[in-house]
Amino acid sequence: MAYHDDTVGERQAGNGILSRRFFLRGVGASIATASVGVAAARSESMMAPGGPMTDDGSPSPFEAHVVRSPISSAAGTTGAGVSRTPLQHLTGLITPSRLHFERHHSGIPAIDPGQHRLAVHGLVSRPSAFSVESLDRYPMVSRIQFLECSGNSGACTAPNPVPGTAASLHGLVSTSEWIGVPLAVLLDEVGIDDAARWVVAEGADAAVMSRSIPLDKALDDAIVALYQNGERLRPGNGYPMRLFLPGWEGNASVKWLRSLDVTDRPAMTKDETSKYTDLRDDGLAEQFTFPMGVKSLITSPSPGLSLEGPGVYAVSGIAWSGAGRITRVEVSADGGRSWGEAELIGEALPLCSTPFRVAWSWDGGEATLLSRAYDESGAVQPSRSAALAGRGPGSFYHYNGIQAWRIDAAGEASNVYV
Ligand code: CO
Repeated sequence: MAYHDDTVGERQAGNGILSRRFFLRGVGASIATASVGVAAARSESMMAPGGPMTDDGSPSPFEAHVVRSPISSAAGTTGAGVSRTPLQHLTGLITPSRLHFERHHSGIPAIDPGQHRLAVHGLVSRPSAFSVESLDRYPMVSRIQFLECSGNSGACTAPNPVPGTAASLHGLVSTSEWIGVPLAVLLDEVGIDDAARWVVAEGADAAVMSRSIPLDKALDDAIVALYQNGERLRPGNGYPMRLFLPGWEGNASVKWLRSLDVTDRPAMTKDETSKYTDLRDDGLAEQFTFPMGVKSLITSPSPGLSLEGPGVYAVSGIAWSGAGRITRVEVSADGGRSWGEAELIGEALPLCSTPFRVAWSWDGGEATLLSRAYDESGAVQPSRSAALAGRGPGSFYHYNGIQAWRIDAAGEASNVYV
């Protein structure tokens, strides 16, 4: 949305980044797009009763383009691939459940919750099986937190910029309210042995997705999630139950959770040996690299959303970190030569996506927009070259480098490297 240029205030960085207080001051009538005379006339929608109620609350037909896209699946498989959250069409911190990204290794299993059991066994005193109904009777906690695939943004490790959108390049991150039973409660229920160090989580999908989780994390903030954004988990997000490990790479939050094997060592499953390890340039590979790094992304403007013409725009996006709260986001309009501070919208929650926004006066010339996030651990989102340093060939997990969008004179955005 463009604002008339006569409200432009103090600048805090080059190429038109305005004061962080610009939106707080109020922009008065300058954002209106039609005269009062036109707006005051009765519209057609007022002339006859409206449509009936619907049972699924579908979005307006004018929003039909806001879907998970692109979806990509390995050739010859049923659902071994990803669907992406359309970040450039969303705002706020909660991702609507129908738009939460998915990453599956062998499709979405159809599970009858009445038949499903979670077995907790191994180095425990009382091996137990929990049904959905029994878990519903345990204490529960709510976590409004992000989930990000460790492969998210991996396309940005390519030697040349891949044409794409916020969704196609970075859409494997979403945020939900997850409600479930603390894993510590279930482990206490079964009584873990002194020798216990790991918990091997296994899913009920055809890929038997399995990850070894350090016991410390299991006892800290891990939950067995049953609800997402107020309803039962969606099938693509693990119905009827999934592990949820705040701040950690998504694949470790095993969906369709069926077994937790308490062990004294990691299981070395295919999902933590052939996949989800990080090859370094010295030939060694790092294993069990779980936390996601501090990161941010400008979602507007971004590719596919074009600017209407010179004027004042909101540059907005989201920031998140696997190390805790976001403390600061900076935005540059001149390719990183100067930076201004963005406003964080709402309270920054730990391990949660945090929306940000800053006003930008676009003069109609070429500009390169960047955002850079800081978290409470003191970590700063790295430049692309810093994020690539030390990586071996083909290493693309955990990429959190700064994203640059070039804005051309026509107001179109594209992916570039700076
Ligand atoms: Co990792």
